Amino acid sequence: MSESKPIIHMSNLMMRYQTGKVALSGINMEIPQGSFVYLIGESGAGKSTLLKMMYGGLRPTSGQLEVQDMAIRGASERQIRELRQRTGIIFQGNRLLKPRTVFENVALPLRVQGWNAERLLPRVKKVLSFVGLEDRLWSYPETLSGGEQQRVAIARAMLSNPTLILADEPTGNLDDDTARHVLDLLMALNKLGTTVIMATHDLHLLTSHPGLVVQLHQGALVTGQKHEQS
Ligand SMILES: Nc1ncnc2c1ncn2[C@@H]1O[C@H](COP(=O)(O)OP(=O)(O)OP(=O)(O)O)[C@@H](O)[C@H]1O
Ligand SMILES: [Mg+2]
Repeated sequence: MSESKPIIHMSNLMMRYQTGKVALSGINMEIPQGSFVYLIGESGAGKSTLLKMMYGGLRPTSGQLEVQDMAIRGASERQIRELRQRTGIIFQGNRLLKPRTVFENVALPLRVQGWNAERLLPRVKKVLSFVGLEDRLWSYPETLSGGEQQRVAIARAMLSNPTLILADEPTGNLDDDTARHVLDLLMALNKLGTTVIMATHDLHLLTSHPGLVVQLHQGALVTGQKHEQS
């Protein structure tokens, strides 16, 4: 599946928060196009920090981070916005807007790009049917189960046909069967060519859903942990 050109390139990547906390130090890594990557490591290892940098939510303190051919450190706000249009993001804790319907939640990434409801509806229906929730278009998030809410978050992340999906613990707080279903959906997107990078603590999922493993420990990369994709 992997092609030669990496979709993400990091060299000596370092992130220090304003508090002085060094969340990532000296990361060197390349992620091939088309990979399915598990980003693992203890709580506080730096997983969310790294994912945030990959969509330009945080700028590196030093070192290089190139995502989809864009150098994040020197990128303008406009370039970062463009990068996000090519990136699907599933946030830790899914972050659905409670007072908004499923339709409005899923539509958000294209709504901010100026799409009107008429143009959005067929596209939103299509991604919701991919995650099996077309009939919940007009429901509110709190009337959905945790697994259904995560599937809505996946639908939102895939709305603009991204080349890269960044998912922060998308199976957190889900039972095993539901977690596997969520993972099936992410794997299906990966099979269609989308690179997926997913932070997780659910290592047992690897047995049924193999991928490349990237392990962080206290902000540094642990080497020798790579499992080849089947
Ligand atoms: N905004 C912030 N300001 C200061 N320090 C932060 C900030 N966000 C995270 N940190 C610190 O940076 C380190 C890495 O945090 P991060 O959220 O990336 O960890 P994580 O691997 O995602 O953990 P978890 O598995 O609990 O989600 C932690 O020590 C955390 O306390
Ligand atoms: Mg985290």
